[in-house]
Parts: sequence; C-alpha cells; structure tokens
Amino acid sequence: MKLISIVGARPQFIKASILIAEFKKNDTCSHVLVHTGQHYDQNMSDIFFDELGINPPDYNLEVGSGRHGAQTGQMIEELEDVFLNEKPDWVIVYGDTNSTLAAAIAASKLHIPIAHVEAGLRSFNKTMPEEINRVLVDHLSSMLLVPTETAVNNLLREGFGEKDIHLVGDVMYDSVLHYKDIIKSDNSNEPYLLATVHRAENTDDKERLSNIFEMLIDLSKQISVIIPLHPRTRSALDNLGLISKIERYLTIKPPVSYLELLNYEKNARLIITDSGGIQKEAFFIKTPCVTLRNETEWVELMERGCNLLVPPTDKETMLKKINEYLENIDILLEKDVWSGLYGSGKACSKISSLLLN
Ligand code: UD1
Ligand code: UDP
Repeated sequence: MKLISIVGARPQFIKASILIAEFKKNDTCSHVLVHTGQHYDQNMSDIFFDELGINPPDYNLEVGSGRHGAQTGQMIEELEDVFLNEKPDWVIVYGDTNSTLAAAIAASKLHIPIAHVEAGLRSFNKTMPEEINRVLVDHLSSMLLVPTETAVNNLLREGFGEKDIHLVGDVMYDSVLHYKDIIKSDNSNEPYLLATVHRAENTDDKERLSNIFEMLIDLSKQISVIIPLHPRTRSALDNLGLISKIERYLTIKPPVSYLELLNYEKNARLIITDSGGIQKEAFFIKTPCVTLRNETEWVELMERGCNLLVPPTDKETMLKKINEYLENIDILLEKDVWSGLYGSGKACSKISSLLLN
C-alpha cells in the first residue's frame, strides 16, 4: 500500500508528523511526503521537521507565496506530476489550506482516492479562503476523517453517505498527548497572556487589525502579553506603521517551535487567538481562550465556556468581554468542562487502520 501525504503550512507539518509515525509501525505501508512549499521560512517550516523528527520531504515543490489562483494553480500542476510518478493508492490531505485544495483537485482528476484529515468542519462563512477549501475538498474525498460530532452532522446535512464518514477524533489531540511530558507547568514567571493572530479576515482588514492590537496594548497595561508573530501579520502591521508602537507594549517574538508554543500555552493565564489549532490546544492543555473571530468551527468549546468568541469589531466591547472573562477564570478552571469532545487520543491509529485495511 502506498500513501502520499501533502503538506505545506505550519499546522499540517504537526498533524502529518504524528500520523506518519503511526504509518511507520506497519511494514506493509510505504509513505511519501510532499511539501508544497507554501510555508518556507525556517521558523514556519524546517523548525517543525527538526523538532518533531519528520524525515525531509521526498518532494519539495517550493511553490512559495502568491495570490490564491497562482499559488494553488502551480501546486496542482506540480502535484499532478508527482502523483503520475508515484502512483499512490491514497492521497492524504490535511485541514483547509491552499495546499489541501490543490492536492485534492490534482488527485481527483487522476481518480486517486483522497482521505481528508479534519473533514466536516464548517464556519458557514464563504468569505474565508479556508471555508472554500474545506467544502471543496470534502466533496472530492472518498474518506472523510472527522474530528467531532458537529462535523459529522455538517456532512450528513450536506448529503454525504454515512459509509464515507469516519468519526476518528482529532489528530492534534493525539499530538498533545504524545508530548504531554514535555509540556511543563512553570509558576516562576509573572502572569501573561499569549496571543496569536494570522487569519486573512483580521490581517487584511485595517480596522480589525488595529482594533486587535489596540486592545492588546490596553490589556498589556494590566498583564503582560507575549505574541509570536506570523510573517503575514508582521508585514500587515509594518504597512500600517504600527510595529514600533506595538513593540513598546507587547513582547513580540518571531514564530516559535511547536513545543515552545505548547509551553507558552500551558503557562499562560489566557490565550487570545484567531488560530484554529490553538483554540483546541488551549482546551487540551486547560488554558482558557478567547477567539478573535465572528464565528468558529470549534463550536463545542464555546458551548462549554472553555472558549469565548469575541469578534474584533470594536475595541471597547472586546475589552469589556475579555476583562469579564478574565475575572471569572479561576471559577472556570474549577469546572468539570476540560475533557472529552475530541476523541480518545487514538485518531492516528484509527486512520491508519482505515487506510491500511
Ligand atoms: C495559511 C492558510 C491558513 C492557515 C495558515 C497556518 C491558506 C489560504 N491559508 O495561511 O488556513 O491557518 O496557513 O499558519 O492556505 N509568509 C512568509 N513566510 C512563510 C510563509 C508565509 O513570509 O514561510 C508570508 C507571505 O507574505 C505570504 C503570507 O505570509 O504571502 C501568507 O502566507 P499564506 O501561506 O498564503 O497564508 P497564511 O496566512 O500563512
Ligand atoms: N504554532 C507554532 N508556533 C507558533 C504558532 C503556532 O508551533 O508560533 C502551532 C500551534 O501550536 C498549532 C499550529 O501551529 O499546533 C497552529 O497553526 P496556525 O495557528 O498557524 O494555523 P491554524 O491552526 O489556524 O490553521
């Protein structure tokens, strides 16, 4: 059995690394890794291969950054060559990036079956590039590897057959469990908030971006704020001439490694983010989280109260909501809401059995 995984962006290296380790346990399976090159800076790409012990990719397409059409188109063209050359039994795609969509289009035209890890998520907001990607990819996939009940129901509502939908749990939960002994509590530091921002809807909208950073600057007057900055956000802030002001108040860092970020998450009083992956990690690690978006795919976390949705539309309203949440954090941490939802930590072994049997 020959499997090919297509990755290209930071969270995909993390998801693929834990699944590839599972495939390696089966000697009837050969696995080929393709990196599209969507993320390419050392601290957006190599750092994950090094830290997580992922073998260098068998192919690196070095597509780099670009507008959606150009970037996705170039990936499709190059992935078609790879698939024709490798003739895999399955193509495995992860999440909802342009690399995911390109791989699904290239594979489907060659009639190679696609397994989609993290299928069924929906924000119901078609202005998000990720929503477009995930809807299309699900419809091209033969095996829908679903993390949550909510995602199962989304797919059933869209008319998918039950036999294609497999509720396996979340591979990112497997990953956090795998590294749990390396994630250390450390009470020696002063309390801080961890923030990350990178979504197009926030970085490409001047008003939302400045609302977010003005809000973080105000919060930093009561508790320090650490923010590893995605290159997209740094360049958007540079364009607005805001970087030097922000640096006076917030601890800005370059993007950090996965284990470093998990440690920051573990020891933060609160996480403020627009990341999909970090919303869930906050829950796995038991740190309350605020999500700076209008909606989220991970609705279970909001229902539990482990996460608070705060659209970044008005600074004063954001501050009011976040301060109220902060005041009640100790009560929230005492509640019995911090487990379940994302499977049993065996998503990777379930995926491996489904593909290999
Ligand atoms: C992409 C995904 C997003 C995912 C995120 C994970 C799409 C449409 N978006 O968003 O769903 O949440 O990855 O982090 O696929 N850049 C660099 N160096 C790099 C990578 C990017 O400088 O190594 C800069 C470039 O200016 C680039 C911009 O960041 O234009 C955006 O990169 P891109 O990969 O297009 O989107 P992300 O915002 O990273
Ligand atoms: N991450 C990281 N270093 C950082 C920021 C994020 O290792 O500086 C990890 C984070 O722990 C999570 C994943 O990257 O596992 C989330 O990626 P991102 O927020 O870029 O994308 P999303 O999950 O929103 O697609």
